[in-house]
Amino acid sequence: MAKHTVVTMPGDGIGKVVLPEALRVLKVVGFDADYVPAEIGWDCWIEQGNALPERTIDLLAKHKLGLFGAITSKPKAAADAELSAALKGKGYSYFSPIVGMRQRFNLDVCIRPCRSFVGNPLNFIRKKPQGGFDEPALDTVVFRQNTEGLYAGVEWSDPPAEVRKALGTHPKFKPFETVEGRDLALALRVITRQATRRILEAAFRHARAHGYASVTVCEKPNVLRETSGVYEEEAKNLHKEFPEIKLKSDNIDALMMWITKKPEDYQVVVASNLFGDIVSDAFAGLVGGLGFACSGNIGKEVAVFEPTHGSAPKYEKLDPPIVNPIAMILSAAMLLDHVAEQDKAKKIREAVATVVQEGKVRTYDMMRLSGGPDVFGKGAANTVQMTDAILSKLR
Ligand code: NAI
Ligand code: MG
Repeated sequence: MAKHTVVTMPGDGIGKVVLPEALRVLKVVGFDADYVPAEIGWDCWIEQGNALPERTIDLLAKHKLGLFGAITSKPKAAADAELSAALKGKGYSYFSPIVGMRQRFNLDVCIRPCRSFVGNPLNFIRKKPQGGFDEPALDTVVFRQNTEGLYAGVEWSDPPAEVRKALGTHPKFKPFETVEGRDLALALRVITRQATRRILEAAFRHARAHGYASVTVCEKPNVLRETSGVYEEEAKNLHKEFPEIKLKSDNIDALMMWITKKPEDYQVVVASNLFGDIVSDAFAGLVGGLGFACSGNIGKEVAVFEPTHGSAPKYEKLDPPIVNPIAMILSAAMLLDHVAEQDKAKKIREAVATVVQEGKVRTYDMMRLSGGPDVFGKGAANTVQMTDAILSKLR
């Protein structure tokens, strides 16, 4: 029996294309693991009325380690229309399997590293006043709270009377009291001290373990005084245990501006769910975009690693496939870090770095082409060729 068992969930669209590429890399790097395939995504919804089948949940509960591609999700009307005839009208309603997985296993710590690779034509550059350009090396790790905040799912349109009544006890709700029925929609920003401490502690520990100089809390405590205030308070408390690390605090809006000017100022960034989602996409855009953006969803017991991108359905059917497998491959490297196989993770990152720096093999996104079957005629590598190039550096 292998040392680890990984539940593999390709999902939909290009998830099915990129996940097998990551498995090829894990095999060549010598990761001692068995792989158990599990279903997730749109086909499960259509056929079973559930995008996250029980069997997949059971396998994750058992093996604790998941590698996930991407899923397709569609708005309510389309979801209801596509449900198989046998299940229609039986009360099924679509729920995001990713959110479901995060909630079911309390995968509350989301890590999104955003590192630039030397030679990546998609890297952030900046004009120098005296002429020419700067291309600062970027190495930011975003810690995003993954289970609460504005994504907790506590939402209403046309909130029930008892909710309205409760809100009426807050003086700031006065101007909205007369807004009737579906003209009023509400979402609750739920922040707990426990989950806030967990994400902050994960961020500080990561900074310490990897020698990052600072942790920046990215919230908006001057306006969201109570909820962002918890982040501020807990960060200050926790900082006492990590005195060698500089604690900074930037409002989300200011931070979004500063990263378009001096992104190299940020090392570890920590934020609640929505802000973390936004700020991690922004950092990812500076280091190559969706083709390079990897992530880990980490709970106390279970951890699931996935590229940040979705299922890109418009490229699903292209053969050979055009999409960049690097985001998926870097997600697999994060899985290796998680199971204390850092040397193998490092080898994979170095192989990716060498291929990017050599610049001989580039997928269409790295050439800033618009996607389609014609990209090969313009010199783009296909998905498999990119993985092969990475594998050639590992052998
Ligand atoms: P997307 O991430 O699937 O694609 C957006 C665009 O980014 C693509 O059209 C393509 O140009 C580019 N892209 C994405 N991955 C790439 C790769 N590996 N290499 C090169 N280029 C790449 O987002 P979109 O189009 O908004 O959503 C498509 C579907 O994916 C939707 O059903 C959405 O709900 C779902 N989705 C799923 C996610 C997940 O599984 N974690 C995350 C985001 C969206
Ligand atoms: Mg996102």
